[in-house]
Amino acid sequence: MAPPFIISHQDSDSQMVERSDVFEIFPVKIGSYIFPHEHKTRLKHLCFDIFDKYKNNKEYSRQNANGRPLTHYFDQENLVSPLLDYPGFETFNSWIKRCSIDYINNTLGYECDNVVITSCWINDCSKGGSQPPHNHANSVISGTYFVNFTPEIHAPLTFSKPNIEGKPYLSIDRDAMIAAHIEPCDGTLLLWESHHRHGYDLNHGDKRISISFNVIPETLPGVYGFKLIKR
Ligand SMILES: [Fe+2]
Repeated sequence: MAPPFIISHQDSDSQMVERSDVFEIFPVKIGSYIFPHEHKTRLKHLCFDIFDKYKNNKEYSRQNANGRPLTHYFDQENLVSPLLDYPGFETFNSWIKRCSIDYINNTLGYECDNVVITSCWINDCSKGGSQPPHNHANSVISGTYFVNFTPEIHAPLTFSKPNIEGKPYLSIDRDAMIAAHIEPCDGTLLLWESHHRHGYDLNHGDKRISISFNVIPETLPGVYGFKLIKR
């Protein structure tokens, strides 16, 4: 009969090894863009106007489902008037489309002539709020634009390291390796592929305001490709 495996917790060979190199391959690419100053100030005022107008209107605003001090505006399904059709959002709408096309073509290396913004909404997070790691289904790239963000007060956006798990697997504690955050400022737009998990930890100040959106290339190429036409 074969002897059982012996699991040892100690390595008796204390000699150092010489590492020749470390190759990081297939890095996660997060795009960053800055909205021109004159536009970002106008957009910030517009968002505050929307809060005043819609904060008590359940058709256009809702509290985050988990009881956190976080309000979402214009994220309801089947809105008669989506956020990007709101008067004053024209410049922002065309800018995030151009940024998305640039990111898809020049950072991800795909080919894309035009995009459809499938959803877009505003987030108003107060002190004590947070957003656990999540990703966005039914989308190719996602973005968050920071309308009102003060570093050291407002929680930065944190990305989780992609985790490919098979079953069964051996669990190795790698807390120190699994997340990295990006500190934006007012007017920063971050873009990433929608499957990446992201969120933020405890937010330390009121009015952490951001606009999030999902994007799909208008034409998906290939033998099973198709063209999207937004209603
Ligand atoms: Fe998100």
